Amino acid sequence: MEPCAYTAKVMRILIRGVAVIPRPETGVIPKADVVIEGRRFAAVAVGEEVSGPFDRIVEGEGKLLIPGLVNAHTHLAMTLFRGLAQDRPLMDWLEKEVWPREKRLTGEIVHWFSLLGLVEMIRAGTTAFADMYFFMEEVAEAVEKAGVRALLSYGIIAPTPERIEPELKKAEAFAREWEGKAEGRIRTALSPHAPYTCGPEVWKKAVGLAKELRIPIHTHLAETKEEVERFQAQTGRSPVEWLEELGVFGVPTLAAHGVHLSEKDIEILAAHGVHVAHCPTSNLKLACGIAPVVEMLKGGVNVCLGTDGAGSAGDLNMVEEMRLAALLAKVKTGDPQALSAPEALGLATWRGAVALGWGKDLGTIEPGRRADGVMIRLDQAHLFPDHDLLANLVYAAKGSEVDSVFVDGRFLLLAGELQTLDEEEVLARCRELAKKFR
Ligand code: NI
Repeated sequence: MEPCAYTAKVMRILIRGVAVIPRPETGVIPKADVVIEGRRFAAVAVGEEVSGPFDRIVEGEGKLLIPGLVNAHTHLAMTLFRGLAQDRPLMDWLEKEVWPREKRLTGEIVHWFSLLGLVEMIRAGTTAFADMYFFMEEVAEAVEKAGVRALLSYGIIAPTPERIEPELKKAEAFAREWEGKAEGRIRTALSPHAPYTCGPEVWKKAVGLAKELRIPIHTHLAETKEEVERFQAQTGRSPVEWLEELGVFGVPTLAAHGVHLSEKDIEILAAHGVHVAHCPTSNLKLACGIAPVVEMLKGGVNVCLGTDGAGSAGDLNMVEEMRLAALLAKVKTGDPQALSAPEALGLATWRGAVALGWGKDLGTIEPGRRADGVMIRLDQAHLFPDHDLLANLVYAAKGSEVDSVFVDGRFLLLAGELQTLDEEEVLARCRELAKKFR
């Protein structure tokens, strides 16, 4: 095999004169020169000359550079179900509309609708995400092609005993095959779908396997009030207490939603270092409730942000999720100071990176960190004036201002042009394939 150009030579890129938010708590540096060497940031220089030569110079004037956004919970290929049978309760929607259609999925469909989700996510500044679904090889190939970073897992649903072994085998085979692939951009997890779709045997086996493979668990948890009430009635425990008893939290765990949690649940999640992916749009649209984000953060839980699938959330836009998370935290606590703009940005960046297992490498723009970043065009009426660009990013930006996106120092979107994916082809194929799923 020919060595790729990437490994043959270390590319040096200069992003010149750009406004930067290196990490949320440092606020905005109005003008800096950012140097990328190979896959990592090499310098964030303010008021000093950076020395060349550079293989590429990207003009940063009029733009804001932020760390790549991390979508910590989604199901990419569910873009197929966007707009379909909407405005329904979660279980009714899943049982009557989604699950019957998911039986008709093919690898081809999952591949193209994953690419559709990737086009949407890259265009709105997402550089890394966590996904659980079916036909995950197809999702992984789409991720490899697009150039993004992902924690991927096969979604195990085993309501009956005979489903347990085949489901676990599929999940294990995928995890073994794809861990560390795409030059390390793909990592894998095990995903029993939820406490209500997988019994104790599945969970125990999944935990054993996760320990053996040294990979995390990614699941859904305490999404609806009904789920929690049913668990209390059937087991005398909350879903969180039930999973703890099974020893699930002995493995690094990423749990989506966490809408209905008791004080004790929050203590348990914090004690075991469980990461919770808050999915505000999906929770609102399905009327699940508002997750106790501020209480979790105060209790020491690492909370990150996710969109959930486009079928339940409508879209895959992390800029919108950031804004919504901040607004909901304020209205839930009655405190306008709750979840400030920098904190909301933290949920969408470094906290997500930690949750996906990339905490040491990702989430901030600092020398030595992986070069994953997003440049936002500031020449937009709704982002004027520039009193506080971080506040504007959280409270006014839409995601459509994203101009350029890079992962590992490689541009996936440059000046509004996708570099790795053929958007026209993706839209054309998805348009055709969608017709069979009305
Ligand atoms: Ni989900």
